[in-house]
Amino acid sequence: MPHRDPVLPTLVLTGQVPVAVVVAVPTGPGPDGTVLHGRLPVLPEVDVPALLARESAKGEAGELVAIPVLDGGPPERVLLLGTGDAGPAALRKAGAAVARRAKGSASLALDLRGLPLGPEAVRALAEALLLASYSYSLKPDAEPRALQELALVVSEPEALESVVQRARVVAAATARARDLVNTPSLVKTPAWLAEQAGQLLSGLKVRVRDEKALVKEGFGGVVAVGQGSTRPPRVVEATYDGGGDRHVVLVGKGITFDTGGLSLKTNDGMQLMKTDMGGAAAVLATLRAVADLRLPVKVTVLAMAAENMPSGTAQRPGDVITQYGGRTVEVLNTDAEGRLVLADGIAYADQVLRPDVIMDVATLTGAMPVALGKSCAGLFATQDLLATQLLAAGAAAGEPVWRMPLVEDYRQALDSPVADLRNIGNPKHKLQGGSITAALFLREFAGSRPFAHLDIAGPAWSGGDDQELSRGGTGYGVRLLVRWLEVLSAQPSANR
Ligand code: BES
Ligand code: MN
Ligand code: ZN
Repeated sequence: MPHRDPVLPTLVLTGQVPVAVVVAVPTGPGPDGTVLHGRLPVLPEVDVPALLARESAKGEAGELVAIPVLDGGPPERVLLLGTGDAGPAALRKAGAAVARRAKGSASLALDLRGLPLGPEAVRALAEALLLASYSYSLKPDAEPRALQELALVVSEPEALESVVQRARVVAAATARARDLVNTPSLVKTPAWLAEQAGQLLSGLKVRVRDEKALVKEGFGGVVAVGQGSTRPPRVVEATYDGGGDRHVVLVGKGITFDTGGLSLKTNDGMQLMKTDMGGAAAVLATLRAVADLRLPVKVTVLAMAAENMPSGTAQRPGDVITQYGGRTVEVLNTDAEGRLVLADGIAYADQVLRPDVIMDVATLTGAMPVALGKSCAGLFATQDLLATQLLAAGAAAGEPVWRMPLVEDYRQALDSPVADLRNIGNPKHKLQGGSITAALFLREFAGSRPFAHLDIAGPAWSGGDDQELSRGGTGYGVRLLVRWLEVLSAQPSANR
């Protein structure tokens, strides 16, 4: 395969404008149009205020006005970059816009010395510059990566080095998650995903259970979902222990392709189903980042990998399966497979790993983007404190998330006359709310532990280049989870 490991530009902090092909200087909204926050690196060949006026520049975040440099350079181009109010959200937008504009040039320097920037704004800017530079293609003649060097020019580089390092680690991990999602399912079998997890997490404790071990140990959901495929399921269990007194388990949905099984999807319905392992990709990449940042927390990741195929060996509607730990489930729709693989992971976490918090990340329901749109994830949590932490992490990281209710009345729609639970809400109750019944199903397996479920069916994939998201897998969840674990690991534990 022509595809190689994701290579993002190198990002350096420096005190002086280096030699660069493109130099960007911030602008912002002022009383009469745009204000320049800094000095141009060259004597401009045009009347800059007149140029800004003619372009009706307002200094809004992400706005770009190019000043040509006619006598060779470097710089070959100076960009006036709108930075709006210079807060984190504005700089995230600005960083993505300028990285995309400079894509074809080898180097880009941003002179930020005229802006009062807090660490949060610098982190958002750095993450967006790196993430917007990501692209994926298997074309043999795919554009080689042009942008190699990114320099942020600030007055006190040392003071910002640690936040920029966090941005580098998080962006690199997100790029790895995007690559896993973007890989076609022809290549992406459960065994391949497990092998990739081993490579990604080198240096950490990684254990892969194959189909025999899964049968033997009672992972009945993963086995049932995977049994229709010639490419058998895997569960990856990986741990990083950075000390501290908290243990978090992250469970990821790793359906390497979702046809729906015998409850077959339409052709349109399965077009994007190579992305159905976006949750597993996000939690695996998060573990890499948490380990690279040496956060003082213990995190275990469970990636539940299976391919959901229709065949003579596939599970049937009406089958009753036994999940990890012994609960039985009547499978009435084989396309509601994500909850079956996750339930094993959640039950295993509750009964064997016994952590302080269990959280899963999953492209779980098509109803989630119907409710919240394409770019916002749905969060379900059994505890308000946990929900508050995760909502704050999403807001700080630039990954939109909205809390959804676990409506107790809907639970009865999961009652089955022949098993402990049905895997889809009983249509006789006419409840709708498919994302909620899915979350209620998962909650059954978490015992009494604090539990959160993040439904990323909308934001796991982007249809086109859009700010810091590049077309394809987005790696949604990595930034949010790393933020949450950063904050959590820095707080003294209250419940011990
Ligand atoms: N992987 C899908 C959910 C999905 C749909 C993710 C669209 C991203 C985009 C999941 O396994 C699924 O098929 N869910 C069903 C559940 C239903 C059968 C209860 C759905 O949402 O239709
Ligand atoms: Mn499905
Ligand atoms: Zn699925």
